[in-house]
Amino acid sequence: MAYGLLKGKRGIIFGALNELSIAWKVAEKTHEEGAKFTLTNTRVALRLGSLNELAEKTGSKIIEGDATNLKDMENIILRSMEVLGGKVDFILHSIGMSPNVRKGLPYDNLNYDYFLKTLDISALSFHKLLQLARKHDAISEWGSVVALSYVAAQRTLAGYNDMADAKSLLESIVRSFGYIYGRDKKIRVNTISQSPTMTTAGSGVKGIGTLIDFTERMSPLGNATAEDCADYCVTLFSDLTRKVTMQNLFHDGGFSSMAMSMKAIEQYSKSFDECD
Ligand SMILES: NC(=O)c1ccc[n+]([C@@H]2O[C@H](COP(=O)([O-])OP(=O)(O)OC[C@H]3O[C@@H](n4cnc5c(N)ncnc54)[C@H](O)[C@@H]3O)[C@@H](O)[C@H]2O)c1
Repeated sequence: MAYGLLKGKRGIIFGALNELSIAWKVAEKTHEEGAKFTLTNTRVALRLGSLNELAEKTGSKIIEGDATNLKDMENIILRSMEVLGGKVDFILHSIGMSPNVRKGLPYDNLNYDYFLKTLDISALSFHKLLQLARKHDAISEWGSVVALSYVAAQRTLAGYNDMADAKSLLESIVRSFGYIYGRDKKIRVNTISQSPTMTTAGSGVKGIGTLIDFTERMSPLGNATAEDCADYCVTLFSDLTRKVTMQNLFHDGGFSSMAMSMKAIEQYSKSFDECD
């Protein structure tokens, strides 16, 4: 059910690769809520994914670009304003990638060139986006910028590797830039810390299937799906959350506040029975 919460709003959505992507669901929901937006991703993603289908469905233009490249980022921002006919009201940064994870290198044997790439793609790209958007005065007053994070920024999760460091940096950028952008332009900057979700990036995390089962059993409300995340993004892009900024907002069914649940205990004990 749509509420028209984003009627007349303009935005930029980074990171929709295929229909599993969180950004894909956000694009569908923001479209339903009345927003216009541009879609952007890298050349490789455009070749391997199915972004054209989403663009057609939502009547959006695709602007190709690598979020780590300053020229590309500037072009995405300027072209978006041109295509949409003015400043934007919201931006979704839904970008993450670790070459170390891709190559299966463990945290105590990282390749440092890859590590820098992880940080650049998954965190610095967000700073680049904010800095260039501010330079070009590309976001309207009371606009809203959201990036996606994960609880591994606060707590150690086996296998999340250098992405944990990237998410910590991302959340720190949200606070540091959120202050500047809020003070000068009344623009909100937040991260949503999402439940593990079966997407292309998600399936790169070691043992993702088991992790999803574990967090489902641990969370009183169960895992948040990509669709749930899209609903939450709509509220953050809407005028109903104008005083929320510089926050890391957990969207995980309660997982981040849990230590042990009955369901998890039951499953844990069963595994001991099997060992006997
Ligand atoms: N899936 C999960 O379990 C989960 C949980 C919490 C947070 N997140 C975060 O959600 C975001 C979206 O991931 P997803 O799960 O939808 O997976 P996804 O694979 O669908 O999306 C990741 C996107 O990042 C894009 N990307 C990679 N390098 C890029 C670059 N240099 N420039 C521009 N784009 C680039 C990819 O093309 C892809 O579209 C990521 O930040 C991810 O870390 C995911």
